[in-house]
Amino acid sequence: MTITELQKEITRLKKERDVCILAHSYQAREIVEIADITGDSFKLSVEAAKAPQQTMLMCGVRFMAETVKLLSPEKKVLLANPTAGCPMAEQMDKDLISAVKKQYPDYAVVAYINTTTELKTICDVCVTSSSAVKIVKQLPEKNILFIPDCNLGEYVSRQLPEKNIKLLQGGCPTHVRVTLHDVERERAAHPDAKLLVHPECLPQVTAKADYVGSTAGIMEYAIRSDKKEFIIGTETSIAEHLSYQCPDKRFYPLSKNLVCANMKATTLVDVYRAVAGTGGEEILLAEDTIKKARRCIDRMVELG
Ligand code: 13P
Ligand code: SF4
Repeated sequence: MTITELQKEITRLKKERDVCILAHSYQAREIVEIADITGDSFKLSVEAAKAPQQTMLMCGVRFMAETVKLLSPEKKVLLANPTAGCPMAEQMDKDLISAVKKQYPDYAVVAYINTTTELKTICDVCVTSSSAVKIVKQLPEKNILFIPDCNLGEYVSRQLPEKNIKLLQGGCPTHVRVTLHDVERERAAHPDAKLLVHPECLPQVTAKADYVGSTAGIMEYAIRSDKKEFIIGTETSIAEHLSYQCPDKRFYPLSKNLVCANMKATTLVDVYRAVAGTGGEEILLAEDTIKKARRCIDRMVELG
């Protein structure tokens, strides 16, 4: 089959089987094209909860599918490729954070959404890269334990000097590959370009950016801007999607190393098999875990 034929078959099957396809913005173009909802982590969680379909199919990584299940426990939620996980989400577990919480009893625990469901059960609120500053600002507590991404946490801390933010050593193995040298090289090669960077990058990189934001924020900035050239400091798929959406503008990846193998694991064939009922993995979570983990996701939606 050609890609177009496979896309047509997926579109037919998803209607027949009442499946809503969710695709994170880092997914390949051929997947984004057949998705019902695309966007950053925040948009996917909020919009998925409102979708009328009975089955939700996540093209992204495991914690995203689990978040959809937390918000819609009555629905069938599938992860298109069961091997697609976010390494950052596995960096800190419930035992470690329970021990840290004992040392800092008066700190609110703010968990980046890139965490396991098990860990979310003991956190106070979740945030995404697009909602972190807004949510932390609204918390009554001055003392915040921000986990697991110390780079996003450092960025939030710079925006909110009135808060006392404690960080642990965690982060995205893809975004930390970007160096100051990459910034200098791309700035020199494209002196008129705006530098748009994801807050998962190192603080010395975000400090040099013209704009810091989530994947959706970066795309929105570039689409709305009257500028013609942009250096894109997040997964290389974003520069590619933008070049299709705005063919009159130029998009340069900040680094060729900005490739997340986990986000790239899902293929159009995985999507086809999951919609056809011969692939994917159903996300199953214990009722008690859903109840406990959902509190911090609900609070994120309410404050975000
Ligand atoms: P956002 O979609 O919130 O920008 O996060 C990017 C990411 O790395 C998701 O894993
Ligand atoms: Fe995880 Fe980073 Fe990949 Fe996002 S880009 S899924 S945070 S490893």
